[in-house]
Amino acid sequence: MMKALISGLATLVFSISILNAAHAADDDLYKEAMVAAGYAAFQHRCIACHSMESSKNSFGPSLHGVIGREAGSLPRYSYSKAMKKASFIWDDNYLRDWIADNESFLPGTRMRHVAISDITEQDYLLAFIKTLE
Ligand code: HEC
Repeated sequence: MMKALISGLATLVFSISILNAAHAADDDLYKEAMVAAGYAAFQHRCIACHSMESSKNSFGPSLHGVIGREAGSLPRYSYSKAMKKASFIWDDNYLRDWIADNESFLPGTRMRHVAISDITEQDYLLAFIKTLE
């Protein structure tokens, strides 16, 4: 009886750890899927003006390491006056506001209007942009 109980408990503990491992793997898969979707969205919506090569500016400034960077602060890029004057640090929320409606967010910006209000698409883009270091 006691033996059966112990072996039952052992099985239970074992199953829980397997479930946890599967769950962790799910999280990784989920993250990868988010980044892949963000990559696709970036190709579609941003790549025309923002290079994927690190530290290379094209029509728009490089977005490598943009999270945590001060707005309009790359030394070798010629920003609009509005962007140069901005002094906030890019974080998730600022980036969401920016891609939801950059012209209202920062009147006078030279970036063509983007209007990505879909939170899921914003999530994808953020997940991808965070991989640009
Ligand atoms: C038609 C060209 C174009 C497209 C498309 C475009 N951008 Fe931009 N982006 C620019 C330009 C130009 C600037 C500089 C704006 C300024 O100086 O006012 C800029 C600036 C930025 C900045 C500020 C960077 C900094 O150094 O402070 C971010 C963040 C940004 N873009 C993100 C995006 C994202 C994300 C997308 C896709 C959803 C996108 N942009 C699509 C042209 C573009």
